Amino acid sequence: MGARNWQDKIALITGASSGIGAATARRLAEEGLRVLLVARRRDRLEALAEEIRQAGGHAYPLPADLTQEVERSRLCEEIEQRFGDVDVLVNNAGLGWYGYGSEMSWQTAREMLQVNGETVVQLTLRFLGRMRQRNSGHIINVGSISGSIPSQGIAVYGATKSFLDNFTTALYRELAGTNVCVSVVRAGAVRTEFGEAALRQENGGHVPTEQVGVSADTVAWRIWRLLQHPRRVVYVPGWLRVVPWVELTFGWLIDRIGPLLLKRQAVGS
Ligand SMILES: NC(=O)c1ccc[n+]([C@@H]2O[C@H](COP(=O)([O-])OP(=O)(O)OC[C@H]3O[C@@H](n4cnc5c(N)ncnc54)[C@H](OP(=O)(O)O)[C@@H]3O)[C@@H](O)[C@H]2O)c1
Repeated sequence: MGARNWQDKIALITGASSGIGAATARRLAEEGLRVLLVARRRDRLEALAEEIRQAGGHAYPLPADLTQEVERSRLCEEIEQRFGDVDVLVNNAGLGWYGYGSEMSWQTAREMLQVNGETVVQLTLRFLGRMRQRNSGHIINVGSISGSIPSQGIAVYGATKSFLDNFTTALYRELAGTNVCVSVVRAGAVRTEFGEAALRQENGGHVPTEQVGVSADTVAWRIWRLLQHPRRVVYVPGWLRVVPWVELTFGWLIDRIGPLLLKRQAVGS
C-alpha cells in the first residue's frame, strides 16, 4: 500500500470537539479532506467547522451521543444519505477514569465500554464493507499505550484499549493484499481535556495529562502520516514501542510497584 491522494475525500472523526479529534480535523481539513465532526458538544463542533471553513476547508458538524446505539445508527444513516461513502474513519472519541476499580460505578464503566469499544465496532463494521468493495479506505483507531501494559487505576480504560489493539490487528490481517487499512495509534500522555473529563466522572481521580505528554497536534500529524504511509500500529511518541516488551519482561516487577503508585496518587489527590 503506497502513499495515496486523499484530496476531497470524506473523513469521519469522532470526538472532534476537543483534543486529538479537533486537532486531527484541522489537520485533515488543511490537507484537503472534507471532515465530518462528531461529538456531543454542538457549540464546539460548530465553532470548529466555522474555523475550518474560514481557513478554506470543508467541515460538517454532526452532534451525537455515542453511548446511544440509536444515535449511532441515526448518525450512520445521515452520513450515508448526505455524504455517501466514508473514505477515512478516525475512531477517536473516548473517556477515561482514574481510581480503584472497586470504586468505579457501573454507569461510568458502561459509558466507557459504549464509547471506547461498542462505538468503534459499530462504526467500523458499518463502513468497512463498502471500503472493501471499493478497495479503498483507512480506519484509524486511537488507542493507548495502556492497552499494552495493564495498569492500576485504569482497569476498564486499559481493557478497552487492549480490545482496540486486538480488533485492529485482526482486521489488518484480514485486509492483507487490499488497498484498505485498519491501524491503531498507541498514544502515551497527550495534553488535552482528557484528565479533566475523567475527574468529572463519579469518583473519578485525576489523570495528569495536561502537564505532561505530547501535544494533540503531534498526534494529528502522526495520523496524517499514517494515512500517507499505512501500517498496522504507530506509537506516539515513538520510544513507547518498548512498552509491550517491558510488560512481558518485567510484569512481575510492575505487580509489586504498580499498587504503590496508585496509593501515592490517592493520597496526593
Ligand atoms: N490524552 C491522553 O493522554 C490520551 C492518551 C492516549 C490515548 N488517548 C485517547 O485519545 C482519544 C481522544 O482523547 P483526548 O485526549 O483528545 O481527550 P478529550 O479532549 O477529552 O476528547 C475526548 C473526545 O471524546 C468525545 N466524547 C466523549 N464521550 C462522548 C460521547 N458519549 N459521545 C460522543 N463523543 C464523546 C468528547 O466530546 P464531547 O464531550 O463533546 O461529547 C471529546 O471530543 C481517546 O480515545 C483517548 O482514550 C488520550
